[in-house]
Amino acid sequence: MKILVTGGAGYIASHTNLELLNAGYEVVAIDNFSNSSMESIRRVEKLTGKKIHFYEADILDKEALTDIFSRESIQAVIHFAGLKAVGESCEIPLKYFKNNLSGTITLLEVMQEFGVKNLAFSSSATVYGDPATVPVTEEFPLSVTNPYGRTKLMIEDMLRDLFQSDPSWNIAILRYFNPIGAHESGEIGEDPNGIPNNLVPYIAKVASGALDKIHIFGNDYDTPDGTGVRDYIHVVDLALGHIKAIEKLQENPGLVTYNLGTGVGYSVMDIIHNYEKACGKKLPYVIDPRRPGDIAVTYADPTKARKELGWTAERGIDKMCEDTYRWQSKNPNGYRNL
Ligand code: NAD
Ligand code: WQD
Repeated sequence: MKILVTGGAGYIASHTNLELLNAGYEVVAIDNFSNSSMESIRRVEKLTGKKIHFYEADILDKEALTDIFSRESIQAVIHFAGLKAVGESCEIPLKYFKNNLSGTITLLEVMQEFGVKNLAFSSSATVYGDPATVPVTEEFPLSVTNPYGRTKLMIEDMLRDLFQSDPSWNIAILRYFNPIGAHESGEIGEDPNGIPNNLVPYIAKVASGALDKIHIFGNDYDTPDGTGVRDYIHVVDLALGHIKAIEKLQENPGLVTYNLGTGVGYSVMDIIHNYEKACGKKLPYVIDPRRPGDIAVTYADPTKARKELGWTAERGIDKMCEDTYRWQSKNPNGYRNL
């Protein structure tokens, strides 16, 4: 079975490509390299000994998409392509709306033209806004606080409307919590441009000496140690969730929505301590003011994915930190040190 992976050179996609190839799927990937490089594709090919049919193209380019769908007999699409930096989305919202929304509309139009109606979409826990209670189930009310999150919620709404108009679509909306970690080979991992916005890539740069200290954004939240609590999930578990979602789409489920998280919350301090264990040294930090827009606590109720997909996250926080450390140590400049 041939799967098109949009944003196929990115962080979560590279781990998903590897698991798809290992599970016997054929992978067609498309990326415009706005936040990635060809090296992740090469490394996945090397790790698996299999080829990815790769196209350097933009999902906004309808002609290019049409050409790919004409050449390859695609049966399902995993749609990762998108811009994802929350802070940047507040500064240049139109770029986010154009890329994420217009890109998705173009993709859906081409899928419809070719009668390919099986889709897994990368949504985010950000669509739950600041949840009133935890754990968060898929039925919680949806709201967003920034343009990035709004693109995710608008695409979800678009998909629900599309399904309403044509129930022959099969759509899995996958709401990821906080993906971290790397493949245990240390050959593929997260490679953010510039100074990282997210906690674990930032800690990794402090541990490697590229940045001097961790900035903890607030220690006065209503949490056990005062720092923010999140549901960190190993990217390989997340990738395996996509394999289960692709299997589900083959049962013609209609539109289904799943949280992909562990169900366990860790604080910023917990993550720092676990990373210190992984790298074997103390990491310097300072307490800064809260980051605007941050919430105190969120973590998933992953019961629905366990019951309906037969999927559970199996890798714990120790492994998440050890694998990030291995990737960072082997590739101090990400994919750019070649
Ligand atoms: P990533 O930036 O590593 O991957 C996204 C990929 O899409 C990149 O390779 C980028 O070059 C590509 N891309 C962007 N716009 C494109 C376009 N117009 N045409 C072609 N390619 C394009 O990010 P990631 O962390 O792997 O995230 C993948 C998806 O999961 C994104 O949609 C993101 O919003 C979503 N998500 C990520 C997280 C997270 O914390 N990493 C959490 C929830 C949801
Ligand atoms: C985690 C915790 C921070 C950096 C973001 C997006 C979300 C989703 C996942 C895409 C928080 C604290 C962070 C730092 C810190 N992405 N922190 N110092 O904000 O939970 O989620 O990524 O869909 O939409 O918003 O992740 O890693 O930025 O922060 O103290 O340098 O670490 O305050 O408590 P977040 P994060």
